[in-house]
Amino acid sequence: MSKFMINRRQFLRFIVYGGVYLASHQFLSACNSLSTEQPPTEFQGDPDVEIRLVAKPGVQQIFPGTPTDIWRFQGEVLKGPSDSLMSLPDSYLGPIFQVETGTNLRIHFVNELPEKSIVHWHGLHVPDDADGHPRLAVEGGETYVYNFRVMDRAGTYWYHPHPHGRTGPQVYRGLAGLFLIHDDQEAALSLPANDKDLPIVIQDRLFNGDNQLVYSPSGMMSQMVGMLGDKILVNGLPEYKIEVDRSAYRLRLMNGSNARIYKLAWDDGKSLKVIGTEGGLLERPLERNYVTLAPAQRIDLWEDFGEREPGTVIRMVNLPSGAPGGGQEFPIFSATIRNTEREVLSLPEAFPPHKELDAAQAVNVNEPRDFILHMGMGMQWMINGRVFDMTDVARDEKVRLGDIEVWEFINQRGAGMGMGGMAQPHPMHVHGLQFKILERQVDSRNDEPYQSLKNGFVDEGWHDTVLVMPGERVRILMQFKNFTGLYLYHCHNLEHEDMGMMRNYQVIAR
Ligand code: C2O
Ligand code: CU
Ligand code: CU
Repeated sequence: MSKFMINRRQFLRFIVYGGVYLASHQFLSACNSLSTEQPPTEFQGDPDVEIRLVAKPGVQQIFPGTPTDIWRFQGEVLKGPSDSLMSLPDSYLGPIFQVETGTNLRIHFVNELPEKSIVHWHGLHVPDDADGHPRLAVEGGETYVYNFRVMDRAGTYWYHPHPHGRTGPQVYRGLAGLFLIHDDQEAALSLPANDKDLPIVIQDRLFNGDNQLVYSPSGMMSQMVGMLGDKILVNGLPEYKIEVDRSAYRLRLMNGSNARIYKLAWDDGKSLKVIGTEGGLLERPLERNYVTLAPAQRIDLWEDFGEREPGTVIRMVNLPSGAPGGGQEFPIFSATIRNTEREVLSLPEAFPPHKELDAAQAVNVNEPRDFILHMGMGMQWMINGRVFDMTDVARDEKVRLGDIEVWEFINQRGAGMGMGGMAQPHPMHVHGLQFKILERQVDSRNDEPYQSLKNGFVDEGWHDTVLVMPGERVRILMQFKNFTGLYLYHCHNLEHEDMGMMRNYQVIAR
């Protein structure tokens, strides 16, 4: 961690200790109390950081020739450290948020799009009126103000629009950005930071001959598998290249694609060291020959480029797999190792332990809530026979504040009246919290798509999205803390989601 970040942390601490006693007192009681007492949905007093985030149409030079029409988030720091937002050079992607745990954040989202929109802070534990539910979408010309305290652990989170039925096309046109959270536990580890902490946002896109984005989700194939592109963009750029020192780096891989599932590996066969998932750092680093990254998932890697000779060019590739459109090997990005002095930084053997969530304490440990993922008669993806309805909450979608629960997602091949052969992978996402993955069970078919991806799953750690393969049942464990209200759970294949493979769940006061 750089000196600069430490200074910033001290600065925040100074604000909290020095001035706003009331706010800091409330923050401590919200975090420490084991009770289910609800903290105020809006913090008291002034925010520490205030940001204006505009969504609007624009153009971006992605390829030589005609610039591409895109939609983008543009940000401005109104109050707080100026590096609370960092822009990615030459990218249509939104600015990267960089905040500390405990920050009181106010965001003015200004919709300058020709249609409704709303922003969702993916992975964050926020009050329901700050979660970007589609019922809160605002028209073009309108503004929505978010007030929330950043309560999550250090990690790689992200943000994107969430209007009903239009999330897929809005993200596809460019509306997405990273949201990085830092905290003291992370800082104490001195992980590679600043120019050694690299975002790698992976997206696939389809372009026409005039460099314009093509979004064609209609038709049988797209309905089944979602929108797949034939060009890979990293941080908004094709044929992405980086130059690296002979040193350790933190690579924050994030799958920002609408539907594509990646099987990622180095082309020189070196294994990957995984240090984090959606909900921040693991308890200890893990090694994988490849990692499977489904839409919306994030994986942080530790990569010591100094273990290779100067001048070496390595590529991160997508290995062939049974994922839709994943039959071929193709490059994701390349890294050239510069001729710099070897800097040896050792990877900590253990990271801060996770606060335990005990499955035995779950109110439904013997009888998990089941969610059957299937295609209905009308060729529409469903959850337990239902599609999305703006405010509808079924009886089996109500949970109680403070409860720990086990949920089971069942990707049933046989469901949908003999259309079992049409089963597709579903990256299932739950809003407003991070969960643990308890177990996976696959049916006896145990087929090639599953076999080709399973060794890349990183089920350890905290997650907000889990890939459920055809024929698979996955059990997750979570707690509904602090906030009551309406949240979403859905498939993060954005075409499946827009088609209605999404439902509300409601957290009800005890
Ligand atoms: Cu990133 Cu409701 O999703
Ligand atoms: Cu989300
Ligand atoms: Cu799906």
